[in-house]
Amino acid sequence: MVYLDYNATTPIEPRVKEWVVGVLNSVYGNASSVQHRAGQEAAELVEEARERVASLVKAAPRSVVFTSGASEAATLAILGAVLARRNSRPSVVVGATEHKAVLAAAGMAAQLVGGEVRRAPVLRDGRADTRGLFYSSGRSNGGEQRDGRPGAGSGRS
Ligand SMILES: Cc1ncc(COP(=O)(O)O)c(C=O)c1O
Repeated sequence: MVYLDYNATTPIEPRVKEWVVGVLNSVYGNASSVQHRAGQEAAELVEEARERVASLVKAAPRSVVFTSGASEAATLAILGAVLARRNSRPSVVVGATEHKAVLAAAGMAAQLVGGEVRRAPVLRDGRADTRGLFYSSGRSNGGEQRDGRPGAGSGRS
């Protein structure tokens, strides 16, 4: 079989597998229970991993949040972003090809703030094409103009 769905999952890189198995064989502490040596050891490994990931993506370590998987990550990010703007009852724009986990989180977030979910067609490179969205609902303020430049009231300059 030729497996091309690396968007869904990938075989684990052998060096990563070896490292993970080594850790699983020797460290069993809960990284949140740092009152004892086992927990401290686990917490140190988590912090080291956070720093390594941060350096790979050129981010501050405190901005790296580990989750159990993609659904949890998408839900956390979408709810956080939408709830932070809840006073303006934002529309939640998702690309037409988004995974059901993203659609579920977007729906939940929109419901919580009394906003709506709008699905944008995607461009050839997979990015959401938001250009038509704000005109079709009559919301030209704060949206983008058809050429992608920010519209009046968007706060961007
Ligand atoms: C974009 C996207 N979101 C969410 C998921 C669900 O992942 P998980 O099982 O880690 O929650 C997948 C899995 O294929 C995915 O590709």
